[in-house]
Amino acid sequence: MSDDTQEEKVAKPKKLQTPPGIHDVLPKDHEYHTFIKKVVRHRARQAGFRRITTPLLEYTQVFDRGIGEDTDIVEKEMYTFPDKGERSMTLKPEGTAGVVRAYIQHGMKTWPQPVELFYIEPHFRYDRPQKGRYRMFWQFGFEIIGESDPALDVQCIFLGKKIFEDLGIWDRFTLQINNIGSAKSREKYKEGLVNYYVGKERSLCESCGNRLHKNPLRLLDCKEEDCKILAELAPKFDQFRSKEDEEFHAKVKEFLDELGMEYVENDRLVRGLDYYAQTVWEYWDKNTGAQNAVGGGGRYDGLVELMGGGEPTPAVGFACGIDRTILHMKDAGIKVPSKDNVHIFVAQLGDAAKKKSLPLIDQLRDRGVRTVGALGKGSMKAQLRLADKFAVPYTLILGITEVREGTIIIRDMSKGQQKHVKMEKVVDEVVKLIGEKNLDKYTPGEVSISKD
Ligand code: HAM
Repeated sequence: MSDDTQEEKVAKPKKLQTPPGIHDVLPKDHEYHTFIKKVVRHRARQAGFRRITTPLLEYTQVFDRGIGEDTDIVEKEMYTFPDKGERSMTLKPEGTAGVVRAYIQHGMKTWPQPVELFYIEPHFRYDRPQKGRYRMFWQFGFEIIGESDPALDVQCIFLGKKIFEDLGIWDRFTLQINNIGSAKSREKYKEGLVNYYVGKERSLCESCGNRLHKNPLRLLDCKEEDCKILAELAPKFDQFRSKEDEEFHAKVKEFLDELGMEYVENDRLVRGLDYYAQTVWEYWDKNTGAQNAVGGGGRYDGLVELMGGGEPTPAVGFACGIDRTILHMKDAGIKVPSKDNVHIFVAQLGDAAKKKSLPLIDQLRDRGVRTVGALGKGSMKAQLRLADKFAVPYTLILGITEVREGTIIIRDMSKGQQKHVKMEKVVDEVVKLIGEKNLDKYTPGEVSISKD
């Protein structure tokens, strides 16, 4: 066989694509991401939260210990693999365990308490991909570590509401709350549940059967029909709550009432992570309920100690899915403001014109005029077609004659009219046409230098 024929036989490379459940964020969706981030940062700053970024990749133990080995996330959904040094590593499936690891590692208990942190980040879960459920998804989350008070739980719950109000979608959700008590009362409840389910194992689905002795609480929110019927009749947690749990829960409800925040008491709400104690809550879609909660959280008083932080440290927090938030915003027809529109297109012909257009583009951008220059080799016609595609209101045209005469053409794209102006006047003229209030002014803020 000749080399040529062999070459022909080489298979064409397959089209490269993202893996299932993992998506690019394209410019149109970035407009939503940017807007949501802006709202989250604004609300976080107002409430004294500071931003933290924990690594996307951590030692697996952080999540095994933090989230709980018997949870769905740890059992089935983590992206875990050995690194080249044979250490088990995991792409973070949620934010809380990493934040608590950072709290301990950086000695944050010596900071003024409580420490209030927020994050906006991607997370990874090997979930079954479907609408609103992805393998890489974005969350914004808030954590308050170092103080216990039902008022802090309510502040978190309320912060979620404020953010969804700012985004224009709060009316689509209900707040579901529950109190799952202290670790001690939960142990008693778990015993009560196991006693109830023993003898009924044959009616349970396979995963509930496996979970019964390890994590019986999870049986309460199984979606299988038979399991749902059994869960309905199972003992309720309120029979096992201690007096302190009851008091804590009553305070949470009292504070929610004070803020005029409606809630649904949901004694089936247990959440899928092991670290919770006392208050838990979720923001549910009014139409689909538990299926695709847009956010959730709760108190996790035992986690710092469990992860090696020494003394017991109270904490509370929540996280919301940005991808699901965007789906809701689009479904509600909400458009977000975008700053991606370009003000001016600079077209030029010939080397001398290209040279002159470079400082001009720089001056326009410095004044806040969003400017794109056609610096390739296209004909004037091709450049004007490109200007149309950018949908700019004005195009500046610089040819050999204009360079010689020290002028430039301003073309009004909608009217198709154009006029010559002096080159040294063009920036002021353009600023006037675009209007001061529409300029993209960039103020990075002043930096200071300190020797210490
Ligand atoms: P979570 O309920 O597992 O809680 O996740 C919070 C939110 O992330 C969910 O309500 C959902 O909107 C979004 N989410 C979760 N999985 C996916 C997925 N596969 N695809 C798209 N969105 C998803 C936590 O992660 C806790 N760390 C929250 C917390 C913070 N608790 C205390 N502090």
